[in-house]
Amino acid sequence: MPDTRGSIHGQWSSRFVFILAAVGSAVGLGNIWKFPYITGENGGGAFVVVYLVCIALIGVPIMMAEILIGRRGRRSPINTMRALVAEEKAHPAWRWLGWLGVVTGFLILSYYSVVAGWALAYVFRAGAGLFTGADAGAVSTLFGALLDSPESMLAWHTIFMVMTMAVVARGVRGGLERAVTLLMPALFVLLVILVFYALYEGDFARGAAFLFSPDFDKVFQHCEVEAGVKSCRFSGEPLLIALGHAFFTLSLGMGAIMVYGSYMPGNASIARATLTIVVADTVAALLAGLAIFPIVFANGLEPASGPGLIFQTLPIAFGAMTGGHLFGTLFFVLLVFAAWTSAISLIEPAVAWLVENRGMARVPAALAVGATAWVLGIGSVLSFNLWSGESFQLFGKTWFDLIDYLTANILLPLGGLLIALFAGWVMSRASSCSELRMGDGVGYRTWRFLVRYVSPWLVVIVFLNAIGLI
Ligand code: PFF
Repeated sequence: MPDTRGSIHGQWSSRFVFILAAVGSAVGLGNIWKFPYITGENGGGAFVVVYLVCIALIGVPIMMAEILIGRRGRRSPINTMRALVAEEKAHPAWRWLGWLGVVTGFLILSYYSVVAGWALAYVFRAGAGLFTGADAGAVSTLFGALLDSPESMLAWHTIFMVMTMAVVARGVRGGLERAVTLLMPALFVLLVILVFYALYEGDFARGAAFLFSPDFDKVFQHCEVEAGVKSCRFSGEPLLIALGHAFFTLSLGMGAIMVYGSYMPGNASIARATLTIVVADTVAALLAGLAIFPIVFANGLEPASGPGLIFQTLPIAFGAMTGGHLFGTLFFVLLVFAAWTSAISLIEPAVAWLVENRGMARVPAALAVGATAWVLGIGSVLSFNLWSGESFQLFGKTWFDLIDYLTANILLPLGGLLIALFAGWVMSRASSCSELRMGDGVGYRTWRFLVRYVSPWLVVIVFLNAIGLI
């Protein structure tokens, strides 16, 4: 019986801690750094609508699928897939799904840690009062100086990776659980404070309108002017970016939520936990947007300024506003918290596997995984300075951009698609129904319909559209 299954790594001490941990994984740089900058680059409201549709129709069913697979297998994603393949008598090729996730996790963590390193650096810059009274020129010189220095970026990347390894090394209860119960509530409190701050000090009306009033033409019409003639065509690229971000922000498609699910108490409701996690993640992203865009507009800053958005724009605002010294510092502390609890979940699948299969203790396992991701991250560090030139680029992208694009827009949706297919088509109805513990009613049937027909097709359509086939 599934209830009697347990993980050798231990279990969250309650359903609530599982939710906190999963929210900790989901809410991260994706919500506070990436969501605002890709929304800014993709024209605002209409992009947000597409993203929310992806969350509801793809994110929710696939998160339920991922948690149920994890809890049924009760092992690291690699061994969970191996066990379920045997149990469900599935084709052995499905075992590769676990490996795909581990590789994706390494790749994401490698650049995630570099951006988290920027946030760490900014905690100290903000704390030292470097932004006070700084204008746009001074702030962008400061950000440029960080990017130009491989040594200091490497140092911050290293510190962040050590922080991540330290928590993971301590295990499920001592490390992960303690970190999330402390950090997640603090993070939400800080976000709400910042939204109030933006409400009083920023251009709230414009910021909210940018986020919530959709203009589909602006997002999906790609216009070019050639020889004085303007021609427009539909571009599906924002669709792929919104889809990829739905996976990224919910930590889906690579086994992070699966491994957390494997530590979930047997009697907890997966559907209820999923809804709580998804709502919390979406609220965090929208709060971040509401905290950032009013400040961007009030200061005449550019919403489409890319990955540097929050680092190049917010300090100007914090530097100019009352209380900016304190709130600026708090903001970057929050960003580090959020990134930390996500990074932990990025390496947990690989660490759990090393413990299970190589008989390693958690400390060397965390060290080995962290060190590998750290080495890969050097490519991202150099993408902003020594390797930023065209001769180092592939498909017009730096290493950093390439890894970001490959993981968020291709590997995570691919992993998610396979997870949906496995849970919907390969696992027997009896297994998924008993593991979801929601009976065979409307709820279960709706989930099964979505995970079999709706989510996979939507992912495939967006993929085909992005590569120009439809
Ligand atoms: N969800 C995290 C964020 O939004 O920052 C990033 C992430 C964590 C992606 C874990 C994937 C993952 F497995």
